[in-house]
Amino acid sequence: MTLTDTYTLSNGVKIPMVGFGTWQSADGDEAYNSVKWALEAGYRHIDTAAVYGNEDSVGQAIKDSGIARDELFVTTKLWLCNTTEEAAAAIDESLKKLQLDYVDLYLIHWPNPAEYRPNFEARNAAVWKAMEDAVKAGKIRAIGVSNFHEKHLAPLLKVAEIKPVVNQIMVNPSDQQLEVVAFNKAHDILTEAYSPLGTGKIFKIAGLADLAKKYDRSIAQIVLRWSLEHGYLPLPKSVTQSRIVENAQIFDFTLDTEDIAYIDGLHGQAGLASNPDEVDF
Ligand SMILES: NC(=O)c1ccc[n+]([C@@H]2O[C@H](COP(=O)([O-])OP(=O)(O)OC[C@H]3O[C@@H](n4cnc5c(N)ncnc54)[C@H](OP(=O)(O)O)[C@@H]3O)[C@@H](O)[C@H]2O)c1
Repeated sequence: MTLTDTYTLSNGVKIPMVGFGTWQSADGDEAYNSVKWALEAGYRHIDTAAVYGNEDSVGQAIKDSGIARDELFVTTKLWLCNTTEEAAAAIDESLKKLQLDYVDLYLIHWPNPAEYRPNFEARNAAVWKAMEDAVKAGKIRAIGVSNFHEKHLAPLLKVAEIKPVVNQIMVNPSDQQLEVVAFNKAHDILTEAYSPLGTGKIFKIAGLADLAKKYDRSIAQIVLRWSLEHGYLPLPKSVTQSRIVENAQIFDFTLDTEDIAYIDGLHGQAGLASNPDEVDF
C-alpha cells in the first residue's frame, strides 16, 4: 500500500486512503506551506472546509504544485447555509477560492447547526438538492456528510436522489463511534476518520509509547496504521514538515492482532466526539 492507494466509493469514484487535514492551519503561509509539503511528501488527498477560512491558500498550494488535477482528490465542506440557493452560492464560492473547476468530494459539514436545529431534516434536504445539482453540473464528483448520526442520516437517505458516499466523523483510539461506523457500513458509506490523532491529545496515552517502542515507530504512525487496519480513511493534520512526512510512513508495517485489540480498548482516554445535537453552534 502507498499514499496513492485508494478506496472505491459506492458511486465508483476512487479516493486516496489517507487525506491531509487543514483545520486550524491559518490562511496564508501556514496553510500554504503545509499543503505544499504534503503534496511533496506524496499525499494526493487534501481535506479543507469553507469554515476553516483557508481555501485560498490551500487552492494556491495545489495550483503551484503543478500536479495534474486528475491525480488529486480535494474535499471541501458546506457550513452555514439553510436553502438550496445559499448552498449553490457556497459551492461556487469554494470553487472560486480553491481556483478549481470541480471538487472531488463535498460534504455537509454539520447536520444541525444551532440556528437550523429544530428543522434540520428540511435544511439538509434543501442543501442536498444544491449538491446534487452541482454533481449534475460537473462541479462535484461525490457528495457526503460529516458529523451525522443515524438520526440525521436516515431522513437524508429517504429524500436523496444521489446517495451520500462518505460520512466524515471523529474516529481515533479514544472514540471509534462504532454505532455510526456500523450505520455507515450498512449503507455503503465510507467512514473518514477526522482528528485521527485526537487533535494532538492521543500523545498523552502512556500505553501508546510502549507500542511505539515495540515497533520502532512513532505514536502517530502506530495510531494512523491502526486506523487503516480498521478500514477507516484517516485525515492527519500537521503544519510541521517533518511530521507531515512521518505521518505518511505507515505503509511498510502492520500491527499484531493483540496490539490492535489493545488500542481498541483505549476508549475515553483522550476525549470523546461531541454530540452534534448538543454543541452551541
Ligand atoms: N468534519 C469535521 O467536523 C472535522 C473536525 C475536525 C477535524 N476535521 C479534519 O480532520 C483533520 C485532522 O484532525 P485534527 O486537525 O483535529 O487533528 P489531528 O490530525 O488529530 O491532530 C493534529 C495535531 O497533532 C499534531 N501532530 C500531527 N502529527 C504529529 C506527529 N507526527 N507527532 C506529534 N504531533 C503531531 C499537530 O501539530 P502541528 O500541526 O503543530 O504539527 C496537531 O496539533 C482536520 O485538519 C480536518 O481536515 C474535520
